[in-house]
Amino acid sequence: MSSTPLKVAVTGAAGQIGYSLLFRLASGALGDRPVELRLLEITPALKALEGVVMELDDCAFPTLAGVEIGDDAEKVFDGVNLALLVGARPRGPGMERGDLLEANGAIFTAQGKALNKVAADDVRIGVTGNPANTNALIALSNAPDIPTDRFSALTRLDHNRAISQLAAKTGAPVTDITRMTIWGNHSATQYPDLFHAEVGGRNAAEVVGDQRWLEDDFIPTVAKRGAAIIEARGSSSAASAASATIDAARDWLFGSAKDDWVSMAVLSDGSYGVPEGIVSSFPVTTKDGDWEIVQGLEIDDFSRGRIDASTAELSEERATVTELGLI
Ligand code: NAD
Ligand code: LMR
Repeated sequence: MSSTPLKVAVTGAAGQIGYSLLFRLASGALGDRPVELRLLEITPALKALEGVVMELDDCAFPTLAGVEIGDDAEKVFDGVNLALLVGARPRGPGMERGDLLEANGAIFTAQGKALNKVAADDVRIGVTGNPANTNALIALSNAPDIPTDRFSALTRLDHNRAISQLAAKTGAPVTDITRMTIWGNHSATQYPDLFHAEVGGRNAAEVVGDQRWLEDDFIPTVAKRGAAIIEARGSSSAASAASATIDAARDWLFGSAKDDWVSMAVLSDGSYGVPEGIVSSFPVTTKDGDWEIVQGLEIDDFSRGRIDASTAELSEERATVTELGLI
């Protein structure tokens, strides 16, 4: 293993997610290799970020090789191997994530351009800030020299939520649940798919054997979980979002488990009839920093309708950001 620190940029580092994410990154969630944190914030949040850095210092983490903070993306992103783009406004009660497009989209044009100029040649970029799929599309469209497969948007939180709901329904431990897939957008139209998931190696839809539960309970519970948390907590999910951001980065860099796959939103190549040119969630296997969409799954009419509805929303978001001049 390289002892050169992995340079990890986190944007929005003084925010809610940052407060959980930074301590996980610094304490070895990505393995024993030391990490150097590069933290980007807007100028008014730098003082708060200094306080967070004091706390990171006070943990004396053996795997934390250094911390730099700043409000200039080109300086903070210089030479980074992994960029976790979290910084963006969260939605409040009654909003859909798509309502954030205009407010947040511009952040990702500037950050895409900065990454294009100064990131390391092996950079991987994960977008958590909402609306995550289309923000990733904006970032990759503004970084023409970075291969498009280096960008992904976070649907791992939805994936983990789906695993947890299925485990609770079937009484199986989460470790018995494999081949979960989230298709489409990280939004209320997303499609968590039980027809290819497995519980202890058996088809999950058959184990559940209850199409009503699947349609009226499972899918809406997973798809609207973000709103339920906002309603209950008064602010959007943070620790679980940080945890999913780590899960996604770790699996991307080090590989998904044998005989299993994960959900990641990536630029569509047209697989499964998902229109090219949108960043949509797929089942993917990962290895050594690369991902591949799982091929050959049979999609029945029910799943087809759900996937098409979510990808249609992504095509609309793409049209909106095109009109806004962001891509
Ligand atoms: P927050 O408001 O607590 O923190 C966001 C931080 O981003 C703030 O400190 C703000 O100053 C900073 N910021 C704003 N513009 C910036 C810029 N241009 N550069 C750098 N930093 C900038 O919000 P949060 O709860 O940490 O959530 C962050 C984002 O993540 C939101 O958009 C939220 O909706 C999203 N989110 C996504 C998922 C997911 O599964 N994809 C889950 C939870 C939250
Ligand atoms: C979530 O899914 O918890 C986040 O995307 C926050 C939100 O707005 O729902």
